[in-house]
Amino acid sequence: MTRTPIVAANWKMNLTLDESRRFINDLVPQLIRFDNVERVICPTFIALPFVADRLEDTPLKVGAQNVHWETSGAFTSQIAPPMLQGLAEYVIIGHSEVRQYLNETDEIINRKVKAALAHGLKPILAVGESDALNQAGSTHEFVSGQLRAALQGVSGEQMQQIVIAYEPIWAIGTGRNATGEFANEIVKNTVRGTITELYGETIAQTIRIQYGGSVKSSNMEEYMQYPDIDGALVGGASLKVDEFVRLVEITDQIKG
Ligand code: 13P
Repeated sequence: MTRTPIVAANWKMNLTLDESRRFINDLVPQLIRFDNVERVICPTFIALPFVADRLEDTPLKVGAQNVHWETSGAFTSQIAPPMLQGLAEYVIIGHSEVRQYLNETDEIINRKVKAALAHGLKPILAVGESDALNQAGSTHEFVSGQLRAALQGVSGEQMQQIVIAYEPIWAIGTGRNATGEFANEIVKNTVRGTITELYGETIAQTIRIQYGGSVKSSNMEEYMQYPDIDGALVGGASLKVDEFVRLVEITDQIKG
């Protein structure tokens, strides 16, 4: 089974509209050439229309960083799935920062996954354990539980629209990245293993699973050499043009 590798830039709450414009104009010409890798840029909502417009005639894809589960209504500050249609192909759902700071529960994340799918958006569903759970040896149980909760009511056909990002919280923005061996163990046995239990081997083999957490050009190779790790979800290193281009280049060289 060959899966197209996918490297996504999560800009988080960074770059003003002007900075986003400059950044994307620098980035695009350099990213054009790696067609064996799916490249996704997830800017802030404010920059999303500009980035979508700029990427329209390129092979690069756009992702949003979150979405609400309702179609419209009295939800001050929120963005509904139909508002992203035509702008974004992907949407990050369940990022640990959103779970932690905005108190999103497994139930909310499940609603968002289903709402995104219902509107033709492809979720990048993020899962990952805290340092304490990791130290306690509970990673497998916790991550598997997050997946089961988020995917309740999602059909096998819908599942094939989803990308999973395994992002251990202790590795995010800390410089303390997971070893390739550990990331592979969780991606392969826990994430793909759980999807196999839920949807069967054939579907599980088609699902792309990213690693995220302090990914940079000096450790990207370590992850990409594992066949079950299909790319990366990148925070800090996606805010530097050269670094992000290098991450895509490494992925292209190893998996392209
Ligand atoms: P860093 O790459 O900055 O550790 O962030 C990872 C992440 O949270 C991507 O979603």
